[in-house]
Amino acid sequence: MALYSEKVMDHFLHPRNVGVIEDADGIGEVGNAKCGDIMKIYLKIENDIIADVKFETFGCGSAIASSSMATELIKGKPLSDALELTNKAVVEALEGLPPHKIHCSVLAEESIKSAIKDYYDKNGIAYDSSQFPDCEHCAHCGE
Ligand code: FES
Repeated sequence: MALYSEKVMDHFLHPRNVGVIEDADGIGEVGNAKCGDIMKIYLKIENDIIADVKFETFGCGSAIASSSMATELIKGKPLSDALELTNKAVVEALEGLPPHKIHCSVLAEESIKSAIKDYYDKNGIAYDSSQFPDCEHCAHCGE
């Protein structure tokens, strides 16, 4: 079996939603301490719906494919859906990632959450902070 699925190759070679939203309502940036890769997500939010989303990823092919797929999965969706997007769902939509590349999909989940939190913070919207675990309490380390 090929190391990467066709979906991964497609999203790596033709990433969707690459770029910057100048007047973004929420911006999230996360990095992976181990590999040094960085992912940045920009959200345009209208009536609690993700009207537009763009990303910039300075990272490996799996990180680029994960961010491309993740943006496709949340575009046009309510914030509540985007908050529930897990890295596992991104991996499934990509038809799998090699085990040592799973952490790349975690960047996508975390950067989206961080952009939504930024939107809530900027607009003084109350939220349940357990939806946004800080690094110490996040279950992903060690994956
Ligand atoms: Fe760093 Fe993939 S190796 S995000």
